[in-house]
Amino acid sequence: MEVERTFVMLKPSCIQRGFIGEVISRFEKKGLKIIQLKVEKLSREKAEKLYEVHRGKPFYENLINTVAGKTVVLMILEGRKAISVVRKLVGATDPAEAEAGTIRGDLAIELTDNLIHAADSPESYQREHRIFFSEDELETY
Ligand code: CDP
Ligand code: MG
Repeated sequence: MEVERTFVMLKPSCIQRGFIGEVISRFEKKGLKIIQLKVEKLSREKAEKLYEVHRGKPFYENLINTVAGKTVVLMILEGRKAISVVRKLVGATDPAEAEAGTIRGDLAIELTDNLIHAADSPESYQREHRIFFSEDELETY
């Protein structure tokens, strides 16, 4: 099915720098539907679950320390090919390499603290959104 959902997390620096509206606005302008939106202080446990595929990598501890215990914004977005569309809007992992016009390309410069997380596949979406949202929060409107 072409219409699909994806999971996004605005990292703490996005909130601290006042870019919640800026980033949400880009998703809305593209035509993505905001199915869920939640502000939460990210526990270390949930941070470790979200990034479990990176456990053991050199940047892992730094990554967890950048997000754990701090306020984040969690979102489920819906639209045609939403997973790849959102990854394109977000831009390359390293903001120094991300194209101008993308969220990371325009608003970030640090690698670990790169403003935003987005699921990279249907499997990642399934695994990641369940860390933060329950079944009854997934109804559409
Ligand atoms: O976030 P994205 O899917 O683009 O990248 P990833 O390869 O899944 O890595 C997850 C996160 O780890 C990145 O968003 C960066 O915050 C961090 N990272 C890092 O600090 N140094 C690297 N060499 C690679 C990733
Ligand atoms: Mg990733």
